[in-house]
Amino acid sequence: MASPKFWWDISKKCFTVGLISVTISDRFWSITRISGHSMSPTFNPGDSSFNDYVLVEKLCLGRYKFSRGDVIVFSSPSNYKENIVKRIIAMPGDWVPDPFDTVIPHGHCWVEGDNSSSSVDSRSIGPVPLGLARGRVTHIIWPPQRVGKVERVVPEHRLSLL
Ligand SMILES: *[C@@H]1O[C@H](CO)[C@@H](O)[C@H](O)[C@H]1NC(C)=O
Repeated sequence: MASPKFWWDISKKCFTVGLISVTISDRFWSITRISGHSMSPTFNPGDSSFNDYVLVEKLCLGRYKFSRGDVIVFSSPSNYKENIVKRIIAMPGDWVPDPFDTVIPHGHCWVEGDNSSSSVDSRSIGPVPLGLARGRVTHIIWPPQRVGKVERVVPEHRLSLL
């Protein structure tokens, strides 16, 4: 029979491994609940009563490796504690045409909701600092019938920017 010391060593190991994996997961990804319809039909489509839960990867934060079409989570410029989910439409140096007629400044991006009729985004608040980005949404993980990858796409009405 194994000695108590044996079990103690095993449990110590498991505990350490558990602790490390929790730290890693928190550092590299997180899970966020989507509220509202500003990103419909990508998230919370139609008049569904349930909310989508999504996986947010943070590896992209290292050197702001974002691209046009990425769905990102960022802190609200007006309320640091509030997280906002939008799609990147333009990156630094890109020009956003009429009625905005602006060039995206260094270190900023232009974000819009997929459901433009109910989204507060760069069209009203202007370019958003990339420093507010908290991660990129990669997958829908709940509810089960909605599980899938979140694609990097530029909406058709914005293709003229490319
Ligand atoms: C856009 O948002 C409005 C208001 O919340 C909602 O009624 C409408 O269904 C949404 N559009 C799409 C395509 O989901």
